[in-house]
Amino acid sequence: MQVSFDAIAQSYGGQTLFERLDLTIPSGKFFTLLGPSGCGKTTLLRMLGGFVRPDAGHIFFGEEDVTNVPVHRRGVGMVFQDYALFPDRSVLANVGYGLAARGVSRAEVRQRALAMLARVGLEKFAERSPSALSGGQRQRVAMARALVIEPRLLLLDEPLSALDVKLRVELRAMIRELQTEAGITTVFVTHDQEEALAMSDLIAVMDRGRIVQLGAPRDVYARPLTAFAADFVGGANLIAIDEELPRAPDGTRRLGTPAGVMLTRSQVPVQPGSQLAVRSEDLSFGVNGTMAEGELAGRVEHVEFRGGSVGYIVQTSAGKLRVDMRSSLVTALLARGDAVSLRLPSDAHIVQGS
Ligand SMILES: Nc1ncnc2c1ncn2[C@@H]1O[C@H](COP(=O)(O)OP(=O)(O)OP(=O)(O)O)[C@@H](O)[C@H]1O
Ligand SMILES: [Mg+2]
Repeated sequence: MQVSFDAIAQSYGGQTLFERLDLTIPSGKFFTLLGPSGCGKTTLLRMLGGFVRPDAGHIFFGEEDVTNVPVHRRGVGMVFQDYALFPDRSVLANVGYGLAARGVSRAEVRQRALAMLARVGLEKFAERSPSALSGGQRQRVAMARALVIEPRLLLLDEPLSALDVKLRVELRAMIRELQTEAGITTVFVTHDQEEALAMSDLIAVMDRGRIVQLGAPRDVYARPLTAFAADFVGGANLIAIDEELPRAPDGTRRLGTPAGVMLTRSQVPVQPGSQLAVRSEDLSFGVNGTMAEGELAGRVEHVEFRGGSVGYIVQTSAGKLRVDMRSSLVTALLARGDAVSLRLPSDAHIVQGS
């Protein structure tokens, strides 16, 4: 089922959160709202669930205007950050709750809840209390509880943020599998860019109540539109562009920056406030001693061995730049204080100021 927000406006205490928000979530997709704290992610999710009525505008489930449809009639499954399980009921009763509330017979509730628990690998824990489960197990129960009612829409508000890294990675694979199997339209909220990139079909990058970019993970990562998106998704290095200079004889564009002339084959136009956005893994060290146009002079300020990669912070006249190299490609470890030259990728990407 396709879901859409149509001209949504919302204010709190005289502060405008959404001025006029339009957004369509395609049927069957795993759709992520990604943005910093306070940008309005949870509020949008609560509007879909029916917990928040927008000041203005409409919400559609398919062709149906559900703006005034109450929570229990929306057919929505939800999982929150803090589990929200009933502590005084068994795991099985928690999972079966939604079905029982819909008047499904006791035998069928039991059978469907057990089947759902088996799908999240917890059939053995059916009779336990949620308080006797780990955080990861509780989130599996919460997922089972949300999916057992066969909702037409699944809403997930930072369901993994209270878990440790290893469990997060494990559970995100499980969530994606359950979602794909059920083919259910899912809206996932996170402020974790890696999680968003790893899980989503589509990502909406949000900044202060606005959607600043919408696209598939690879596109959002490789071609951010604004400095905000470039920084928030993957923490790109940003280099200010002062002016566009005459092109090189081979047509390469030349850009004046505080660190000298940089070269790029990017087609994105330069406007006031434009910056070069370069991922740390796309910067490389130039050959010692040479400084050609398109290279940046710098001094190593910090070196970090991380196992699979080595991270450097290099001070340049365009600011501090982060460089990441695969450990297997690092022959001699640079040290703090070393003078280096940095080379940008030939298609260094241009973003607009936000
Ligand atoms: N019921 C409310 N009353 C007053 N202000 C609210 C209410 N609900 C949300 N807000 C405000 O709206 C803004 C967006 O809140 P929201 O919870 O949607 O953010 P979020 O993107 O989910 O952030 P986080 O990542 O911290 O969960 C915040 O500034 C918040 O204080
Ligand atoms: Mg939130």
